[in-house]
Amino acid sequence: MKFGAIILAAGRGERYGGDKVAVNLGGRPVWRWSFDRFLAHPGIEAVGIVVAPAAVERYQAAAPQAAFVVAGGATRSSSVRAGLGALTGCDAALIHDGARPFVRAETIEAVMDAVRRGRAAAPALPVTDTLRSISLDGARLVDREGVYAMQTPQGAPLDVLRRAYALDEDATDDLGMLERLGIVPELVPGAPENFKVTTMDDMRRAVAWIGAGETRTGIGYDVHRFSDDPERPLWLAGLRFDGRGLEGHSDADVALHALVDALLGAAGLGDIGLRYPNTDPRWKDRPSIEFVKETAEVLANEGWQIVNADLSIVAERPKIMSRRAEIAARIGAALGIDADRVSVKATTNEGLGFIGRGEGVAAMAVATLRRNQ
Ligand code: CTP
Ligand code: MG
Repeated sequence: MKFGAIILAAGRGERYGGDKVAVNLGGRPVWRWSFDRFLAHPGIEAVGIVVAPAAVERYQAAAPQAAFVVAGGATRSSSVRAGLGALTGCDAALIHDGARPFVRAETIEAVMDAVRRGRAAAPALPVTDTLRSISLDGARLVDREGVYAMQTPQGAPLDVLRRAYALDEDATDDLGMLERLGIVPELVPGAPENFKVTTMDDMRRAVAWIGAGETRTGIGYDVHRFSDDPERPLWLAGLRFDGRGLEGHSDADVALHALVDALLGAAGLGDIGLRYPNTDPRWKDRPSIEFVKETAEVLANEGWQIVNADLSIVAERPKIMSRRAEIAARIGAALGIDADRVSVKATTNEGLGFIGRGEGVAAMAVATLRRNQ
């Protein structure tokens, strides 16, 4: 029997509050965890993915190993229909929620075993909590004896699945559809970690499941000379100061440039010159605090949290330390972290060198990032 797997990733994630299967979970999106496990299974010939119509190209690029990437529908059932339509060269299918990242190989194997015997099967866990059902006459006790919570993958011979899904009906899982044909499924043992990420709390549980994260540190350094133009404003660490400004393509905020380099460096994402080339007119005279905000977004999309940032400014003027709290608040807001995670220090160069002669300002920054894995 040739098995194909269909990973469902076309949901809207309404209870989660966003595209939950795309969220970075320790370096890979949620859907990728189960996709990789099915791909790695020696008994599975093809693994396809069903995604939101607008995401087809993105998934094709991210998963060239996929047997197919097709657009799903408005309900889980319609997404399964799309997947069944795209699956070729197989005579049995396993349908899996992309929102269940931690499916075990033995669970997949147990479902396949039952399907090889001609059955429809799915993993299930006995319900352990006491159950009550609310109706007009109050919250009544429900007997939990023999009650199971269903998981995926749910499998059956392909012709049976296609017959069930040919019905113009809807169910929240595949056994629910097969039941319409009078098919009695076989339940195999589920696993606690094969839970579905449905809410934000489930996502926290997933993060906890994969355990400790990784921490990285980056360094940044920048220098700008004072401008010859007496009218040019002086921007430093996100604030406007009195006195002549620094020369540069953007607002020349040397401290923020060092900070962006430290952040990008920690994430291994190049440097500010690569992202915001000073030959590009778009960045001309642009406030550098926007580079900081954008960098924070780029890091968040890669799953990074910013732990802290520390800046050192080397300048004979202006005097900076009296505005430390203001700087920390401004940078913290741009990074989306508390101000107490941003530190700024300043020193003169004791009159030595180009800084000592008042020709320019230098800044250094260190940033630490953390993400779960
Ligand atoms: N799914 C799908 N197409 C749909 C609805 C759901 O492919 N139209 C997929 C989801 O991506 C998920 C699985 O089916 O992997 C289980 O669905 P569920 O947990 O309900 O996910 P969502 O529908 O995205 O979440 P919600 O119901 O909270 O909107
Ligand atoms: Mg749903």
